Amino acid sequence: MSRRPLWLITGANGFLGRNAGVWLSERAHVVGTARHADQHPAFTQILQLDITDPRATTRVIRGVRPDVILNTAAIASHELCESDPTLAHRVNVEGAQNLAQSAAEIGARLIQVSTDAVFEGGTGGYLPDDSANPFSVYGRTKLLGEMAVLDAHPGAMVARTNFFGWSPSGTRSILEFFVNALTSGTPVDGFTDYIVSSIYAQDLMQVLWDLNERSVAGVVHAVARDAISKFAFGQLVAAVWDENPAMISAAVSTGTAGEVSRTRDLSLATEATAALLGYELPSQAEGVRQAFADRLALRQLVSDSH
Ligand SMILES: NC(=O)c1ccc[n+]([C@@H]2O[C@H](COP(=O)([O-])OP(=O)(O)OC[C@H]3O[C@@H](n4cnc5c(N)ncnc54)[C@H](OP(=O)(O)O)[C@@H]3O)[C@@H](O)[C@H]2O)c1
Repeated sequence: MSRRPLWLITGANGFLGRNAGVWLSERAHVVGTARHADQHPAFTQILQLDITDPRATTRVIRGVRPDVILNTAAIASHELCESDPTLAHRVNVEGAQNLAQSAAEIGARLIQVSTDAVFEGGTGGYLPDDSANPFSVYGRTKLLGEMAVLDAHPGAMVARTNFFGWSPSGTRSILEFFVNALTSGTPVDGFTDYIVSSIYAQDLMQVLWDLNERSVAGVVHAVARDAISKFAFGQLVAAVWDENPAMISAAVSTGTAGEVSRTRDLSLATEATAALLGYELPSQAEGVRQAFADRLALRQLVSDSH
């Protein structure tokens, strides 16, 4: 039997980092890093690391010597990136580059998590080779991060994604937004003009694992196989949770002053990824049904801490 690989996950206390730790804990040895090293049962250990510090990053990577590094650490809020572009650049570009240099030095594989927001969102159905034209500071820094990673570590995999699921705070994802509203009887708007191909976070981990097993390098699109609006997603959640769909009103995103407009089709094409994997990516409905099945155990596991 082959030995369990050692994965190092940055951003271990974030939404995807936590989900990654939980998913990987049954398949790999998992060490996390975070700015505040709060421990969590899914991780053998969580080490303190600010990825913008190149020397500390080198020290941690040399010390742990992981087989695979999954970089989920980022300034992932559009709003924070707009208000503090310097911080966004430091974390999303320089931090990613620091990790790529250290990964290349020890010969570790690196999975850089990127975003559909590297695209403008005019047409949707984007292919990995389509020219990117980000509409926000967040998207620009994530695109520069992709380039910095592939420059420093050409064997790295850049996975552009968009995901939903259970988060440590219970409020981070669009799934939780609709579940919390529906189950508390709070009417909410669902945008009809914001379209994505969001994948369930646990399914995303299966996809990243399988792509890594196939030693895929370069840019891949790791999302659900279908594109739907946030309104349609909310309707799906209402149907799966058997809640009243009329609680969600169809609305158009206005993008009020100070906010980044959400009027976009940021869906990504998955045919190339499916060909690499040898199977179809899940649909959003399949992901929502799996999230429902996981809601008791996983919600607890993701939010649990020592
Ligand atoms: N959420 C989505 O739907 C979505 C969509 C597309 C792409 N993505 C990408 O997916 C990845 C994960 O996103 P997420 O939603 O899981 O974000 P998240 O919950 O905000 O987690 C990001 C983590 O990065 C950490 N971090 C920030 N600055 C750091 C630094 N200087 N050094 C070390 N760690 C640092 C944060 O730590 P603290 O806890 O200390 O702040 C946080 O735990 C990101 O690359 C994001 O761009 C997310």
